[in-house]
Amino acid sequence: MKIAVLPGDGIGTEIIAEAVKVLKVLDLPLEMETAPVGGAAYEAAGHPLPEATLKLAQQADAVLFGAVGDWKYDKLERALRPEQAILGLRKALGLFANFRPAICYEQLTHASSLKPELVAGLDILIIRELTGDIYFGQPRGRRTAVDGHFPGSEEAFDTMRYSRPEIERIAHVAFQAARLRNRKVTSVDKANVLETFQFWKDVVTEVHAQYPDVELEHMYVDNAAMQLVKAPKKFDVVVTGNMFGDILSDEAAMLTGSIGMLPSASLDKNNKGLYEPSHGSAPDIAGKGIANPLATILSAAMMLKFSLHQPEAAARIEQAVQAVLAQGLRTADIWSEGTQKVSTREMGDAVVAAVKAGTSAT
Ligand code: IPM
Ligand code: MN
Repeated sequence: MKIAVLPGDGIGTEIIAEAVKVLKVLDLPLEMETAPVGGAAYEAAGHPLPEATLKLAQQADAVLFGAVGDWKYDKLERALRPEQAILGLRKALGLFANFRPAICYEQLTHASSLKPELVAGLDILIIRELTGDIYFGQPRGRRTAVDGHFPGSEEAFDTMRYSRPEIERIAHVAFQAARLRNRKVTSVDKANVLETFQFWKDVVTEVHAQYPDVELEHMYVDNAAMQLVKAPKKFDVVVTGNMFGDILSDEAAMLTGSIGMLPSASLDKNNKGLYEPSHGSAPDIAGKGIANPLATILSAAMMLKFSLHQPEAAARIEQAVQAVLAQGLRTADIWSEGTQKVSTREMGDAVVAAVKAGTSAT
């Protein structure tokens, strides 16, 4: 099993190192090869997604990704900015289905900014369509306005679009995921304003006919943003487009106390995938050894489950994470009175120890 390891920028290198450490104690035949991506690749090779990195990702069975981005690249032309690496990988590998679970761990109920009773036991799954929508729609650019409020002035524009097959396949993914959970799908749209999302709603409704055992509700995105903080536990699976999913998944992540806890998987039609923490490169805390590696470690577990077909190994990692939380170990982002503050590396070491202890206990 070959894994392409792409650490990227900022805290990416620190958290990936801990996940790699955990993977190495599993006694699985994993071949890991590292390549630069994002700003790091721009520095090394002049491009955020060099040919060699893309090739490695395409040849591997799965990609473990850290994070990309740094303010210092904000002035570069768009095609050379670090973010283009992750967008390019998603497109080139056909990773259209993005799973972003938001799970509130029992020990972290009090780390949430919401009242504990609103988030205790929270377990929702946001499924974000990842290769369409306004992120990739053409045409886009700048031009001189010919109409609108200020004809003759400079303007910028993007194109929101979805094709029927794109909506159908993500709807199937959502209904099938719901079958393994509480059998409820909330499809989030803006059908009251946008043609693209009226179409989304119509197609999702059509696909639903094949899943009579799953409940489907439709919700406007503004209301969904509100309901997520009002009564998040009413959701089970949320399926939505690329941009709404970007925004709502950050919101959902925060319900759980820290975005530093949340893994994600981006899958193609054969369940080949890219696995990354839901958080970004956090350049403000990079190099300080305080980043939370658990989201990345849990992403490695998702990788073992979805792409490498090693559910037992995945479960061992997940149990080890539970164990270190139960021991009271916390990185700064999830620290609270009465728990023990640890560094990125200490957290990784503790998970390694817990994986080993779990093995000898069984
Ligand atoms: C994410 C990120 C990316 C996105 C950026 C870095 C391009 O915010 O994975 O959610 O907008 O998709
Ligand atoms: Mn985002």
